[in-house]
Amino acid sequence: MQPYALERQKEIYLNGFAGKMPDVPFSSDGLEEAAKKIISKKAFAYIAGGAGEEKTVKQNRTAFDKWQIVPQMLKNVSERDTSVTLLNKKLPSPFLLAPVGVLSLAHHDADLAVAKAAASENIPYIFSNQATVPMEVCAQAMNNQTKWFQLYWSKSRDLVESFLQRAEKCGCEALVVTLDTTMLGWRPRDLQLAYLPFLEGKGIAQYTSDPVFTEMLKTYQPQKAERTINMQTLRGLISMVNHYPGNGFFKKLKSGFPIKAVQLFTEMYTNPYTTWADLQFLREHTRLPIFLKGILHAQDAQRALDYGVDGIIVSNHGGRQVDGAIATLDALPQIANVVNKKIPVLLDSGVRSGADVFKAIALGANAVCFGRPYVYALAIQGENGVKQWIKNIKAEFELTMALSGCAHPSEINIDCMQTVVTQ
Ligand code: GLV
Repeated sequence: MQPYALERQKEIYLNGFAGKMPDVPFSSDGLEEAAKKIISKKAFAYIAGGAGEEKTVKQNRTAFDKWQIVPQMLKNVSERDTSVTLLNKKLPSPFLLAPVGVLSLAHHDADLAVAKAAASENIPYIFSNQATVPMEVCAQAMNNQTKWFQLYWSKSRDLVESFLQRAEKCGCEALVVTLDTTMLGWRPRDLQLAYLPFLEGKGIAQYTSDPVFTEMLKTYQPQKAERTINMQTLRGLISMVNHYPGNGFFKKLKSGFPIKAVQLFTEMYTNPYTTWADLQFLREHTRLPIFLKGILHAQDAQRALDYGVDGIIVSNHGGRQVDGAIATLDALPQIANVVNKKIPVLLDSGVRSGADVFKAIALGANAVCFGRPYVYALAIQGENGVKQWIKNIKAEFELTMALSGCAHPSEINIDCMQTVVTQ
């Protein structure tokens, strides 16, 4: 990967000289504030919110502040290369885009805009199980650029199998199994607004485009429930029908499928019964490398190795599941120690900048995944917003790395860092 950061800087400053200002803010707070002004209150709450008092959301950030980079000088960083190799594939920078559900809350082009932006910048995109756009559509837009698929372990094994087959068929190169959402966390921002987007039929496109799921719908008998009919429920109903695939609003409404799809989805999309032994099922039904996402405990990292998985993502789901859970950067060193470079270790939750990428690598990650920042960039300017944001992070990482005295990510290690010294 050719050094690129100086060109990016030049482009931005020369644009400014000609009166063209940047499309997206550079700071993560700036991104969040700008997105907040654009999207609905409910959408912002869903994206920004976390579990409980959001202590883990905050600690995911403060964990990065506990470390300082200690740059080294006179190291000849004229030949810089930010690339890393993951699953035998060279990535231009050590980061991927994490799976984030219900992206239509941020922008109507949703996952498709992200897929196009990621592909144009050659950054891997992990398709969300809770996408607004079916994986096949995003995969086609990405051509042969790197794509992975995130799986939520449904109660239906047939459906899991179908998702796996589809992911393979559309060219996904790895499976990311999210382990931490066997149930949805307690999220006060959403609870306060009494809002869950799935009930409006949003974020369930992987299901409504699935042959096994749609077959199940034909015989599914939902439990009868008392329903209040008012303007709000009518709006929800219209949204359900509009989000259901196919043409003809009234035809879809009459079929009953849009409502049944939401009901069936809510009954089966999580599975608290899963155990380590169930990994065997995945192994038997996919040839894709398997990454476990949600690992925080060193013993789980050891189990992951024992079960022969292909990679780990140290994650607490952006602080959305267990309030008070350990920050991912705090969990990383022990996990990296257990894994001892046998399989790749990625990290997400709280990663906001090029400097954060550097710190995570120094503490043992092979690469990181970004979540909320690209969602805010999507809200601000759709595909272009995500593209500009990716370019900025690439450049920022390159400069952080080089100005700290490293010409390649392989040179980044614990010697580049110290913990904050308190006076
Ligand atoms: C689902 O993945 C969520 O975090 O809302």
